Amino acid sequence: MSYARLGILAVYMSGARLEELPYYKKLTAEGKKLGLQIEVFTPTDVDNKETIRTLRYDSETGKWVRKRTTFPPVIYDRCRYHGPATFRLLKAFRNKFSRLTYLSKPLANKWTMHQVLSESAAISSHLPATVRYSGPQELIRFLKKHKLIYVKPKNGTGGRGILRIEQTDADRYLIQGRNQQRTIISPLRASEKQLSTKLHSLNLSADYVVQQGISLTLKDGRVHDYRLLIQKNGKGKWEVTGCAGRIGPYKSITSNLHGGGSAIPMEKLLYSRFQSRSKIEQIKNEIYRFAHELAPFLETKFGKLCELGIDIAVDPKGNVWLLEVNPKPSREVFHRIGEKETYRKAIKRPLEYALWMMKQRNHSDKDSESKDLESKAAAENKDGENSEAEK
Ligand SMILES: Nc1ncnc2c1ncn2[C@@H]1O[C@H](COP(=O)(O)OP(=O)(O)O)[C@@H](O)[C@H]1O
Ligand SMILES: [Mg+2]
Repeated sequence: MSYARLGILAVYMSGARLEELPYYKKLTAEGKKLGLQIEVFTPTDVDNKETIRTLRYDSETGKWVRKRTTFPPVIYDRCRYHGPATFRLLKAFRNKFSRLTYLSKPLANKWTMHQVLSESAAISSHLPATVRYSGPQELIRFLKKHKLIYVKPKNGTGGRGILRIEQTDADRYLIQGRNQQRTIISPLRASEKQLSTKLHSLNLSADYVVQQGISLTLKDGRVHDYRLLIQKNGKGKWEVTGCAGRIGPYKSITSNLHGGGSAIPMEKLLYSRFQSRSKIEQIKNEIYRFAHELAPFLETKFGKLCELGIDIAVDPKGNVWLLEVNPKPSREVFHRIGEKETYRKAIKRPLEYALWMMKQRNHSDKDSESKDLESKAAAENKDGENSEAEK
């Protein structure tokens, strides 16, 4: 079997560690069944314009083997945000090698994303009110209006550096959150004056967004939300692969799995809040419909995409809110709830989509090749006519 090649663009973390090796291993196994060879590399593995060092997983020896080779023609970019240095490296790579085919175009930070999504009437009604941080006074004004707010770094991931501030009484505020290392900070009860002093002491800037908080606290005090995965299938069409609930650990204001959150089937979590079958069905349909609205809209703004992990909140009335869009989503949540088939599909779909893309490319190459041949033939005919005329 001759294998088509799919490159995975990754970044080295501290200690030359690659972030998602277990996922790449699974991609390799699934890829093999589909006739795809997975090769992992980082922007620093480029030898020159033509060659690159890539890693292939050898299932027999259980080792990753590095080899110098040509660039894989299609690239699955899995680099997440790990600070400005890696971001610059990645951006430079994508600029320099823009001739390669990427499964997805990059998206934007939380603030730009909010602005872009606000342009769509169908989507904006699902967005919590969001502003850029512009000082303690403006934040307190926003807080008095909404009673509950979240403050998030625009480039943050995994629940890092997020604050939740709630007005609990006329002059009483509760501040909770996690620091940049994701450690839960001690909750603080404060008056408006103390809150203002606290905000001054935090290193907040315009790189933070301030967002209307959605009430997501369950009876036992833990917070919850939903993670939906929508992907392109082997025909290049968007399809919801699955959706699962997430419950944050006790004392946490975020539900992210990496912050200690646990996963739970969507229906089970919905049922614990709404009990009514028809209400649950209606919410589920609304979430899926929304995902199908969101994905193509983002493509009109950013270019072709391959998959999105969407963080969804459902408030106590059953309204659906968008918390965040992740362009490089993990699929662990389905593994955790034991939805094996969904999990496998989640791994397989980017590969099937990559194969579909390769086919499209070959067709268009052939199209342009046959157009080239046609025009060559036409030119030769013309020459022929001319030479005929000369005779
Ligand atoms: N506006 C909000 N209302 C209620 N909970 C929120 C809100 N924004 C974020 N959260 C909680 O914090 C978590 C992390 O926020 P998110 O915006 O997804 O940032 P990150 O990129 O760090 O995952 C969410 O999964 C949710 O549990
Ligand atoms: Mg998130």
